[in-house]
Amino acid sequence: MYIFANWKMYLTAAEATALAQDIAVPTSDATVAVFPNTLDFERVHDVVGASIATGAQNVAWTPQGAYTGATSARLFKEAGATYALVGHSERRHVFGESNEDVRKKLEACIDAGLIPVLCIGETKEDLDNDKKEYRLKKQLMKACEGLDGIETLIVAYEPVWAISKGGVGESCSPEQAEKTHLWIKNELKQYTNADIPVIYGGSVKAENVVSFTSLPSVEGVLIGSASTRADSFKAILSAVS
Ligand code: PGA
Repeated sequence: MYIFANWKMYLTAAEATALAQDIAVPTSDATVAVFPNTLDFERVHDVVGASIATGAQNVAWTPQGAYTGATSARLFKEAGATYALVGHSERRHVFGESNEDVRKKLEACIDAGLIPVLCIGETKEDLDNDKKEYRLKKQLMKACEGLDGIETLIVAYEPVWAISKGGVGESCSPEQAEKTHLWIKNELKQYTNADIPVIYGGSVKAENVVSFTSLPSVEGVLIGSASTRADSFKAILSAVS
């Protein structure tokens, strides 16, 4: 079971350090990883030590060179990262990343020895226009077709319309998640014989985490805002263990 915490740009350096100290004692049998802001990465990595893995929220698709403001997968690897999120919905929809960018970043992660967490998900518009499967199929195809090292991949299904809802608005039901995960697992068979873990993300919190993690095809969760407070993060870890 994977419990991945995407801290986005929610925390100050002092808050990220305090949170890392608070959660550094292992309380769960799950594979836990935190994805801090780039500037806090090394500090958080040092604090959580061996008990919790760390990952990049975003990487550049090239290892080195004249790329102002970018941080490569290789640099994250050197700093101790195990994982990297690739194609998170905020990267796609706020920063305009295309499926082609996502593919290049996946390749960069695999080359650097990071485990990529490929995020896919349909928007509300896709859902309303009956384009959910089309969107997911396309995102998977562009990311996975002919990808060397695909067997290291983890896929995170995050319906865009269910992210950052914090209890308000629509959320994806466990039944919908299970159905979609099975569909994704079946799609992945076209690209690899490896058993690629599929995790769920979108307004997961202590109160609903078990309703997702108890499903046969949900192999973990990717949590945003509920992972940025020690009390709710710890409640999630103990609910799952
Ligand atoms: P959320 O974020 O848990 O705040 O909805 C999830 C994510 O964006 O990965």
